[in-house]
Amino acid sequence: MNTVVQTIETAKDANKKAVQSSMLSPRFYTTDFAAIDRINIEPLRQEWDIMMREYEGDNNHDHFQRDAAFAEEFARTMPLLSKEMRQEFIDFLVSSLTSEYSGCILYNEIRKNITNPDLKQLMTYMARDESRHAGFINQSLRDFDLGIDLGNLKREKAYTFFKPKYILYATYLSEKIGYARYITIYRQLERHPEKRFHPIFRWFERWCNDEFRHGESFALIMRANPHLLRGPNLLWVRFFLLAVYATMFVRDHTRPMLHEAMGLDSASYDFEVFRITTQITKQVFPIALDTDNPKFRVGLEKLFEISKNIDLSKKQGGVAGKLKQAWHVSNAALVFGRLYLLPVKRQQLTTNVRMEPAW
Ligand SMILES: [Fe+2]
Ligand SMILES: [Fe+2]
Repeated sequence: MNTVVQTIETAKDANKKAVQSSMLSPRFYTTDFAAIDRINIEPLRQEWDIMMREYEGDNNHDHFQRDAAFAEEFARTMPLLSKEMRQEFIDFLVSSLTSEYSGCILYNEIRKNITNPDLKQLMTYMARDESRHAGFINQSLRDFDLGIDLGNLKREKAYTFFKPKYILYATYLSEKIGYARYITIYRQLERHPEKRFHPIFRWFERWCNDEFRHGESFALIMRANPHLLRGPNLLWVRFFLLAVYATMFVRDHTRPMLHEAMGLDSASYDFEVFRITTQITKQVFPIALDTDNPKFRVGLEKLFEISKNIDLSKKQGGVAGKLKQAWHVSNAALVFGRLYLLPVKRQQLTTNVRMEPAW
């Protein structure tokens, strides 16, 4: 029987947790490679070539190595963490590793299955970066004897098929949100170094510049193919904005202590991430979610409550548990639908596609 991993005590639990699929866990994706192969970036050739030179320059090639102080910091801070806090942090590491590795696999699979030289080169660089990121997190999991077997994860985890345009919307957003998340944590701990409870956060600034650049690549692809950013496609943009924001909100609220330890609370952290992401998306999306609308916040809070009820009914099991679960899931769909129908804001696209990671 496929039991749901609640707490991570052993390497086996950690590996199971990474493989497990749920509404909230990061997924692995596959797509229509032939369609990706046909993507044309020629209208933005100049910007594209500049970006490729940045990837080639690889300014983070020496970044993902631990320094001498890492082990010392780890040894000093870890005994101070409560058992629950340690659990939340490990959960954060496993879910971050899974999403880094998800990018690595997707970009690598695309690279292997296409011949389009522009896209192939891009995918090679991005897979290189994501493999470093995943490897670096895995080292930190190994410090707890909770290393993830990446080969096994690649074989065992379920893959979700997404049409190329969905891959573009979703991956663009997850790269930019990844940037906004890491930079918000980094800036907070820069102001409050006493709250840095693990050395890995020192790496976040240069790390998130990689994510920012990955997002830039998808921005160029979409702007070079503007039909992706108008008409009925905007309904999909709206859907992915909401799906990505809502998943992040609910997932982060399951780890309140983690944010509290950094002097943040999950909700204000998430709304700061939404604010930054919305500013960045002016480079591609002519619409943005109105995250300041009080109904938006109330809806997200409802989704979090419902997700706790879903967990409880899963734990309960049996026919009654299954029925309750189905009820809560349909309730979640209803709340999601209402959030989807809230008015969106129009925004003017930036003249230049490229942006600086200036947050
Ligand atoms: Fe990454
Ligand atoms: Fe990335």
